This record gives sequence, structure tokens and C-alpha cells, in this order.
Amino acid sequence: MDKKKVMLSGIQPSGDLHLGNYLGPLRHWPEMIEEFDCYFFMADLHTITVRQDPAQLRKRTLTQIAQYIACGLDPEKCVLFVQSHVPAHAQLSWVLNCYTMFGELSRMTQFKDKSAKHAENANAGLFTYPVLMAADILIYQPDFVPVGEDQKQHVEICRDIAERFNGVYGEVFRVPEPYIAKVGARIMSLNAPEAKMSKSLPEGCVFLMEKPEDILRKFKRAVTDSDTERCVRYAPAEKPGVSNLIQIYAAATGKSYEAIEAEFEGQGYGKLKPAVGEAVVEALRPIREETERLLQDKAYLESVYRAGAEKASYVAEKTLRKVYKKVGFLAR
Ligand code: TYM
Repeated sequence: MDKKKVMLSGIQPSGDLHLGNYLGPLRHWPEMIEEFDCYFFMADLHTITVRQDPAQLRKRTLTQIAQYIACGLDPEKCVLFVQSHVPAHAQLSWVLNCYTMFGELSRMTQFKDKSAKHAENANAGLFTYPVLMAADILIYQPDFVPVGEDQKQHVEICRDIAERFNGVYGEVFRVPEPYIAKVGARIMSLNAPEAKMSKSLPEGCVFLMEKPEDILRKFKRAVTDSDTERCVRYAPAEKPGVSNLIQIYAAATGKSYEAIEAEFEGQGYGKLKPAVGEAVVEALRPIREETERLLQDKAYLESVYRAGAEKASYVAEKTLRKVYKKVGFLAR
């Protein structure tokens, strides 16, 4: 029998999960666990590139595990773990740092944005962040890495690093492909549709654990476009606000853009906003309720992340040993 393909992804527990995280990559993960060997983790090492409140970080990490399970990631069918529980990520990251060029890291869009935004804390971790991400990925030898559009550049530099390393030492790493969904890969802010939805713009961001009335309020206040046509049509360049709402509606309901345009034919933007809000509330309701239930059972969540760390470490350490041998480190 053919070996199953491997898939891996992670999300930073730096804030509550939001609709961009969910509609972009996360909602597709449960389908993948049937077909692939999957590793999903809480990227806590990445979060401290920006200052975090320690108690909040711990709480969010645990909540995120509960949310992964509530979204349909059955821990019996995939490996769920916390990044800092598997030290091999940080160990491989050091090695890969020595095979990554200063110039290529300087070109990373996210580094440029974040170092400008956090000028008082433009630390070395923020700069070498893509190398840690490359280590996260390469250490499990995955075939695919499902992410949103904004992480594509980081998967590409990971491929470059892997190819460079393989060029010196032979086929050590599998070179993975990014896997980016057609609908939902770039969800925009509700009140500033030229910016991607992110927790740093909280009024335009919908969080998975938010109360339905707050979600509906955010959608009612969503910015639509000032064009004269006023018809519900998917055209991101001309109508970024309305197109974003259509994209969210399509991702939340599974309807096509054409079906949505037909549904709102002859109606203005006023009808679209509450309809999208309702669809999102209904899509998120079972996830919120199940997360709340799981958070009551801390012992279960602990057993999940402990078992996950064990399974992940087994695979990660194997790759690390191979890399250490290739570069010439004396075996212990
Ligand atoms: P993070 O935590 O910023 O985001 C997690 C995932 O959500 C996607 N995403 C979005 N998708 C659509 N619309 C949006 N507005 C939106 N905002 C975020 C991101 O593309 C991502 O897929 N560095 C990564 C975490 C990470 C990782 C990894 C991912 C660390 N190591 C290894 C894959 C493989 C990050 O900061 O994503």
C-alpha cells in the first residue's frame, strides 16, 4: 500500500482565533485528516517575537487546542501538539539559520510590516521567524502545507532553504508545496477591506468565541463600497468591501459566487450584510459551544497535547538526527 502523504500546519496562539484563520486554512483541515498523515500545532514559539502576557498566552494556547478539536480535528486521527513541547523545532531552526541568507530574510513582507509596527521591539526573533517556520515544516517532511495567502512567502522561503540544504548534503528534506484554498485564502477586515482581517484591527475582525450579537453588530457596520452600481457582484478590485462579504458568505455556506449574486439580485448592500452575519453566526455556533464544553475538561486536553508531543517528537527527532549527522556533529 502507498504511504499516506503528510500535511502540516500551525497557528499562533497570540490572540483568539479569528474568521480569517478559520475560513482560510482551518476549516479545510478536518477533511484532510482522513486522507493524509496530519500534524497541527499551536505555534507558541512564534508568538514571543511580539510581547505577550504570559497568563494570556497559556490560556490562549489551551483554548486553541480545544478549538482545533471543536473544528473537527479528531486527536485520534491526527497529531495535535504545542510547538514548544517539541524542542527539535528550535534545534533544527538553529541549523537552518546557518543556511539562510540575511538578504532573503530582509525581503520578507511580514518582517517589513511587523518591524515597522513594533519599531521599539524589532528583535532578532522577528527577523529569523521564517527560519523557525521552515524548521517547523521540514522536520515532519510534509508534502503539503495548508495556509492562507499571507503565509505563502514563508512557505516559499522554506522551499528555498530546503533546496539549498539538499544541494549541499543530498536529499535530506522533502520540498513541500503550499496548499492555498481558492475561496477564503485572504479574508479582509470588515471595516477596512483593503487590509487583511487580523486581531490587530479588532473592530473589523470576528473572533471564533465572540457572542452572536457582537458578530452581527460587526457585520451590520461592515464597510461596503461607494460605487454607483450598488449591486451585489464579486469584483474585488472595484468593490473590495462587498467582494469580501461575498467571499465570507461563500466560505461559510459553501455557495458559489454566482449563486450568491443571483440570491441578492436587485437588492442593495443593506440585505447582504445581515445575511452574511447570520451565516457566520450559524457556522461558528457549534464550534464555540463545543470549545466551551471541552475547556471544562482540562485533563482531557492535557492528555491530547501530551500524546501529541510524544508522537511529534518521535518523527521530529528522527529528522534532527539525520540533519546533525549530515552537517558533521558528533553523535552523543
Ligand atoms: P498566523 O497565526 O498568522 O495565521 C494562521 C493561519 O491563518 C491564515 N490567515 C488568514 N487566512 C485568510 N485570511 C486572513 N485574514 C488570514 N489571517 C491569517 C494564515 O495564512 C495561516 O495559515 N507563521 C504562521 C504560523 C506558523 C506556521 C508554521 C504555519 C508557524 N509555523 C508552519 C504553517 C506551517 C502564522 O503566523 O500564521
